[in-house]
Amino acid sequence: MTFTSDLQDFAQMLSCAVDLMERGTYHHGQKVAYIAKGIYEHLMAKEAPANLIITSYIHDIGISSFEDKERARQFFANKQILRSHCVDGASLVESVDILKPLKPIILHHHTNYSDIDKYEEGIPIEAQIIHLADRVDVLINPERYILDQVDDIVDVVLKYRGTMFNPELVDAFLDLSVKESFWLDLTNEYQHAYEHIVFPSVNMKMDMEDIYQFSYLCAKIVDRKSPYTAEHSQRIAGIATALGELCDMDEQDVYFLELAGLLHDLGKLAVPEHILLKNGKLSEAEYRIVKQHPYYTYCLIDRLKIMNKVRDWAGFHHERLDGSGYPFHLKGDQLDLGARVMAVADIVGAITEDRPYRPGFEKRETLKILWEQVDKNLIDGDVVSILAKHFDDVIYSGIKSKVVV
Ligand SMILES: [Fe+2]
Ligand SMILES: [Fe+2]
Ligand SMILES: [Fe+2]
Repeated sequence: MTFTSDLQDFAQMLSCAVDLMERGTYHHGQKVAYIAKGIYEHLMAKEAPANLIITSYIHDIGISSFEDKERARQFFANKQILRSHCVDGASLVESVDILKPLKPIILHHHTNYSDIDKYEEGIPIEAQIIHLADRVDVLINPERYILDQVDDIVDVVLKYRGTMFNPELVDAFLDLSVKESFWLDLTNEYQHAYEHIVFPSVNMKMDMEDIYQFSYLCAKIVDRKSPYTAEHSQRIAGIATALGELCDMDEQDVYFLELAGLLHDLGKLAVPEHILLKNGKLSEAEYRIVKQHPYYTYCLIDRLKIMNKVRDWAGFHHERLDGSGYPFHLKGDQLDLGARVMAVADIVGAITEDRPYRPGFEKRETLKILWEQVDKNLIDGDVVSILAKHFDDVIYSGIKSKVVV
């Protein structure tokens, strides 16, 4: 079995996922990629390299809360906040072989030009470009007509030419800034120009191990938002994989189930921490916000185009056989075996986990809850009986599931 995908698609997906921490409309990572590509190509008169584009998409993966995302959007952001997400982001990419070379770029994407001498190893030009592109994007005020604010943005950038920003890059940016189309592309809501960046002609295919590692990175980014369930996605992936094997699913489907497990809560990045970490019952309004998450998971994975099974199995994990689940209210035949396995894996994973307000349920209680749900036609009885037969093995797989260091 072989399966490949494009790194660009995964990087764009992760970029959109991280930007959900801004109510889903801001597209910061993609805009930074667009500006950075423009600056590089104007300066070097050649196509921007893959590492500049990919890092632009994922440069902010170290940000783990709405609050820090908001703070990083201030032009004069607190240095400590900026530094800490650079360090966290750099350490996150270490576990993904294909992203490892981007580490120094992520680490220095907020390092000022005047501080470059402090770093013996130097600062990659890509980091300096992303730094400028990032600050240009945060200077844009979405409330104002874009062409009315170009002079103000240019003035600020010019003021920090040689201190915050590399002067050569500022000059390239100034040349670009005279084109109305550059700004209109950036803010065009009808046709997102930045979504159509042509990927440099570099072979950046991901093999199955790369895809696994990238999905594991996504799982870590989601799970680090909630310390109580720090390995939830990884556990669900392990449980779903074990259940899929026991249900005689083929090797490729079991692999897709593992990816679906790792990615199933990616949309939770759209849920603010005060709701995600609330110690107690959610209000109805809060629950409505939580209910968005499988929808966003579905949309994010849909961007990958070729992983429709992963998209469905991850996006349908809160659907129920009688149609009472969310967000699509699918029922019966519309939910295939993979979706049924994921739904059971997510429930069993969640109720056997310790939470701050209750310890994890034991085997007997867990199975009792699951059978009650089978009786109400919410989840699949065949999957639950296979789980019941192999409970310890399945739960154990959830705990020991693969760890990529
Ligand atoms: Fe940043
Ligand atoms: Fe940023
Ligand atoms: Fe969920």
